[in-house]
Amino acid sequence: MAIDNNIVFLNGEFGPMSEAKISPMDRGFLFGDGIYEVVPSYNGQLVGFGLHIERMQNGLNAIGIKLDMDLDDWRDIAIKLLEKNSIANLGLYFHVSRGADVKRFHAYPEDIQPTVFAYTFEIPAAPKADKQSVKQYRVTSTEDLRWKRCQIKSTSLLGNVMHFQQGHDAGVQETILYNQRNELTEASACNVFIVKNGTVITPPLDNQLLPGITRHMLLDILRKEGSLQVEERVISMSEVRSADELWLTSSSKEIAPVVELDGKPVGTGQVGDIWQLAQTFYSAHKHNY
Ligand code: PDD
Repeated sequence: MAIDNNIVFLNGEFGPMSEAKISPMDRGFLFGDGIYEVVPSYNGQLVGFGLHIERMQNGLNAIGIKLDMDLDDWRDIAIKLLEKNSIANLGLYFHVSRGADVKRFHAYPEDIQPTVFAYTFEIPAAPKADKQSVKQYRVTSTEDLRWKRCQIKSTSLLGNVMHFQQGHDAGVQETILYNQRNELTEASACNVFIVKNGTVITPPLDNQLLPGITRHMLLDILRKEGSLQVEERVISMSEVRSADELWLTSSSKEIAPVVELDGKPVGTGQVGDIWQLAQTFYSAHKHNY
């Protein structure tokens, strides 16, 4: 099918795929902040339509996207797309993203319209229960690493966004994360450091955290400056909870002192002396990078 003949649905309108446009500020593009479905249709007959729409609605509910559309609205779009793209066997693709804001901020914006997109693509005829003609598949296997590749600065940020929103809903600025062994990893959009007895400590680089540029520069600056002890090692959450100081680092925050964790004061509950020293060194040397 030539792309121009493919009629798609976008935000209430049907039109050629080549004319369908969305904002680059759409959170589906910036954060992977959306839900999708694929429904098969053979000779005009949809398979499992209600189940697909129910799963999509469950996903939308789970990530707090409010969309004023019911099963009949979706069916209406589906039927019109099938009419406009008259090919025997089609997949119907439905996509709802949270919509476009004017700024990039992880927390869910209150007052934006979701983006609703649907289009069709050709799929093979359904298999027949026939050993001779059925297509045979060969596969490989590997450990399931999905959601465990946090060292890649991917735009698939829905997991981060949901954790950021958890903190936002609780009235705080960040959410600190730990793994199944109760070891600190990072925060939803920052790296994390603790200070204990004057030593500055941060988790080592691996697949559980982003290799932050601020983290890298801070470690380098502190090591070259030489007056503070610095360690990259595994940190348990009990160490985090008993730390003298706790910091977040990111390009937009530099070194941010945390004074409260889960409602309890960090150290004395005041901004720490080591933070002041570290931010002083960072401010003095950051332009060397
Ligand atoms: N976030 N960890 C995560 C998950 C991040 O998203 C970021 C940056 C960092 C810190 O990396 P750097 O020091 O290179 O900024 C760590 C940016 C600021 C963001 O998503 O807005």
